Amino acid sequence: MTSRIAVFASGGGSNLQALLEYLARRGTAESRVVVVASDRPDAGALTRARQADIATELIRSPGAPEAPSALDVMRQHRADFIALAGFLRLLPKDLLAEYPSRVVNIHPALLPAFGGAGMYGDRVHRAVLQSGARVSGATVHYVDEEYDHGAILAQWPVPVLADDTVHSLSARVLKVEHVLYPRVVEAVASGRWRFGSRPRAVPEAASLALMHWDERRLVADIESAFGLAPTSSSRS
Ligand code: GRF
Repeated sequence: MTSRIAVFASGGGSNLQALLEYLARRGTAESRVVVVASDRPDAGALTRARQADIATELIRSPGAPEAPSALDVMRQHRADFIALAGFLRLLPKDLLAEYPSRVVNIHPALLPAFGGAGMYGDRVHRAVLQSGARVSGATVHYVDEEYDHGAILAQWPVPVLADDTVHSLSARVLKVEHVLYPRVVEAVASGRWRFGSRPRAVPEAASLALMHWDERRLVADIESAFGLAPTSSSRS
């Protein structure tokens, strides 16, 4: 089915850019971005949209009380799908009610860990590093009335390396986001991935990449990764 996508973004918009480039490369008119909306007039995402000749809108927020609501913007541009891309506000209930299973978000960690109110941008990666977690990743999920809370559509793991900084980790995760998000947005917006049907390809491939089928190799890898002395059972 054809889909008219609205992208909501508060920041630089690299995920918006990745989506635009992916849709342009696909070369079908099936799904296209018809408007980019922001709560911040200086959002880099708005500049990227203008450069791509896509309509932009400032939407209502405490800083712009006179601006149209998100719902007004959706109706005005006859948009039928919302992709959040670094949008920092919760969406109003009436908007979510109008677009059931038609609103998705990407989060730069493996939800449900490292998500929720206040967990955005560098804060997410700092929390991952401080926790000692050795795996992070990107999560695409449906959006509901809570931050980073709706059903998960796709995840892809990213290793956390010993000498990682917030910068190096966020760059590694962002690279995955730019591949994963456009593809999932397109699949959900076009109706190929539907609510309730469990999308398989991306999550299963990700799990398989992490899986060791050979138990000896698993034992050897864990022992060598963590500097653990081989035990008699692992040597057998
Ligand atoms: C991304 O890391 C995304 O996961 C999160 O906000 C960031 C937006 O980055 N929701 P950008 O504006 O798309 O560059």
